[in-house]
Amino acid sequence: MVAALAEGLDLTAKPLSEVTAKDAADGLVLSVETPLDSAAIARLPAGLAAVGTYSVGTDHIDRAALAERGIALLSTPDVLSASVAEIAVFLTLGAMRRATESISLVRSGAWTGWTPGQLLGHELASRTAGIFGMGRIGREIAARLSGMGMTIAYHNRSRLKPKDERGAVYHPTLQGLAKTCDVLVIACPANAATGGAVNARILAAMRPGSYIVNVARGTVVDDEALIAALSSGQIAGAGLDVMAGEPTFDARYLDLPNAFLLPHIGSSTVETRVRMGAILRDGFIALARGETPPNLVPE
Ligand code: DGY
Repeated sequence: MVAALAEGLDLTAKPLSEVTAKDAADGLVLSVETPLDSAAIARLPAGLAAVGTYSVGTDHIDRAALAERGIALLSTPDVLSASVAEIAVFLTLGAMRRATESISLVRSGAWTGWTPGQLLGHELASRTAGIFGMGRIGREIAARLSGMGMTIAYHNRSRLKPKDERGAVYHPTLQGLAKTCDVLVIACPANAATGGAVNARILAAMRPGSYIVNVARGTVVDDEALIAALSSGQIAGAGLDVMAGEPTFDARYLDLPNAFLLPHIGSSTVETRVRMGAILRDGFIALARGETPPNLVPE
């Protein structure tokens, strides 16, 4: 089946719950909305060689259980970094320029005209963006925010090589980063080490009136703590493209005018979607030929 992909593969679409060991499939493609836990992995077709996830994140997949069955995992790194970085800029602007309140004012018909004090936000220029997770996406965000006049600082599990830092200041701890930045941009992978990492202690360490932006996963943020900080003003605004439990999430965010919320559209551009499909297709073909594709997720 995979070898036929180049000529036009016969594709079947069905919910994962309906995929059984009797299905004759060499490859399975899914996305972040389809959790692949150990029970689902146990039911996968006997001859399945590879799973391709339509995402760079793999936190919805039990990678150990997949590896135990000898099934390869493909993802979509690099091809979505530009789109996600652009959304991070949009969220930063939306949080700092009060997008939710501005849009509501216009749409509600309550706008009575320009006044000097109306909906004042803050400039990005000359402020510091602290990037939590300086992988491919984090570096693309840094390049864009730096182009808008921001100073870049970052925290990552290891320090980048000087040529990749491009002047960004490294902080060995998240707390150290939090203390020095005006906007904390979350771009790290979701895993056991980062789960709930942006918690009450980190938010309290930030300067009063700072901002939070999240393009990673909602699970990195402690919602209780962020909602409290947004309510008190310790955090002036948040731009969130991802939320724990999405598409259902903590509804208290909806009552906060300083929360600028998007429905996980970081990678949602035509250009990126085409590239995501192509990198998965090429990965399946490479595996069928016995090669190691660049998007093979290490076990
Ligand atoms: C990813 O790739 O992990 C995004 O969050 C979904 O496209």
